[in-house]
Parts: sequence; structure tokens; C-alpha cells
Amino acid sequence: MTTHLVEIDQATRRFGGVLAVDRVSSHVDEGELVGLIGPNGAGKTTLFNLISGFTPLSAGTVRFRGRTINGMRPNQVARLGLGRTFQNLRVFPNMSVFDNVSVGAVGTLPQGPFGALFARDGRARDISDRTWHALELAGLTGVADELAANLSYGKRKYLEIARALAMQPKFLILDEPAAGLNDTETRDLAAFIRRLHAGGLTIMLVEHDMNLVMGICQRVIVLASGRKIADAPPEEVRRTPAVLEAYLGTDE
Ligand SMILES: Nc1ncnc2c1ncn2[C@@H]1O[C@H](COP(=O)(O)OP(=O)(O)OP(=O)(O)O)[C@@H](O)[C@H]1O
Ligand SMILES: [Mg+2]
Repeated sequence: MTTHLVEIDQATRRFGGVLAVDRVSSHVDEGELVGLIGPNGAGKTTLFNLISGFTPLSAGTVRFRGRTINGMRPNQVARLGLGRTFQNLRVFPNMSVFDNVSVGAVGTLPQGPFGALFARDGRARDISDRTWHALELAGLTGVADELAANLSYGKRKYLEIARALAMQPKFLILDEPAAGLNDTETRDLAAFIRRLHAGGLTIMLVEHDMNLVMGICQRVIVLASGRKIADAPPEEVRRTPAVLEAYLGTDE
């Protein structure tokens, strides 16, 4: 038996002739804040998709909270306690901020034969509580009634994270949350991620912004061409020759 929150064992994903993720093994422990970096096309998003059930594994195993998630659908993995954001914003522009975030709360409420017997009000209150709590964490309560389309790009990023938080996840995976943000916004986002982590959330972060990753993560996993080439604390990763090589000749 193991105590890892997430166990990735020889995870592999092929797309035709491309090995997007090639026999990657690692783990995430409860309470960790782990970075996942690598050049463009290294397999970061694919690995996230494997962990969250959005892409089936070609080989290998992913376990989350002791359960093998191979073959599970994304909503099943989400119900187990996995929240995620996407590299490309998935915001419903013509819905209010509140409604966008409540989608996360609705998606993960326990369902079952007794669901219909529960008072509708109780269920609605639960959704509303989760949504307000997530909005509060993300600093969005003041714009809850705005249309998402009216938010700045930076605020929309928080909206996406808030939606994932409304699922009340145990484990949050963020795919390039700082992409397109300026320096000040990136610093604020780093502080926000730190706060979520300090609040007890286990987080895995894909990011191109090296300073962000090295500044807040306790451990950094590096992928290159689908293979894991490093998995160590930031200061060690910085000195790993294979990592320096992987980034040489790229424009990062
Ligand atoms: N649905 C798909 N069909 C075919 N090939 C894919 C698919 N998704 C990813 N790939 C390929 O798998 C490899 C890894 O892609 P992935 O998006 O996981 O990389 P990444 O590390 O997230 O890159 P980036 O930093 O650009 O976001 C790439 O060669 C990509 O072209
Ligand atoms: Mg990606």
C-alpha cells in the first residue's frame, strides 16, 4: 500500500507515430506543490489529460487516491477530487461569473438514488455555498453578477481557477495559468497559488514562466519529447545537464 495522492506508473500516450508521453513515472504527495515544465510539445498537457481522464492511456497506470483511473471518464475523476484548468481558457462569455463558477460546483455534487429525494433547496444551497466560497478565494465576489465576457483576460484566468475550486478538489492541476499575463499579474497569480497551497490544497502546475515555477514549487518534473528527464527540487533541476540541453536551441 502506498500513501501517494497520485501515482503515475509508466504512463504512455501515443498519437499515431508520436509518443507524446513516454513511460513517465512519478508521484504527487498530499500537500505538495509540484511544477511540470518542458519545451513546447514535451507532453505536459497530454500528461495532465492522462491524469484527469481526458485522454486514455496507451500503456501504464495512473492512480489517484488509491484508485486506478485508467478508463474513467473526466467527470468520474473529478468526483474523486481532481480539479483542473485548461491551457486554452474555457469560459462561457455570455454567462455571469457566478454561473460560470457554479458549473464546477454542480458537476461534482454526489449523485445517487437518493439525490432526487433530497430537498431541492438543500442542493441549491450547497451549490451556492461552494460557488461563493470559490469566488471569495479567487477575489471575484465583487464581479459575481458581471458577464464573463466583461472581465479582463487576467480576471478570466481567476474565473477558470475558481470554477475548478468550486469542485472542492483535493488535487488541482493548472495548465499554464500565467500565459498572457504581465509581470504584475503573474506575481499576483503566484501569490494566489501559494495561498491555495498554504490552505491545504495539493497542486500541480504546468508553466512556461520559469521564475514562477522555480519560485513557488517544491519539486519540479521536467519532460522533453515525452520522457521525464528530471524530477527534483528547483535548485537541483537548474543544475541538471539534460534540462539545460533540452532548453538549449529553444527560444524559452
Ligand atoms: N490530440 C492529439 N492528436 C495528435 N497529436 C497530439 C495530440 N495532442 C498532443 N499531440 C502531440 O503530442 C505531443 C505533446 O503535446 P502536448 O500538447 O502534450 O505538449 P505540451 O508540453 O503541453 O506543449 P506546449 O508547451 O506547447 O503546451 C506533441 O507532439 C503534440 O503535437
Ligand atoms: Mg500544453
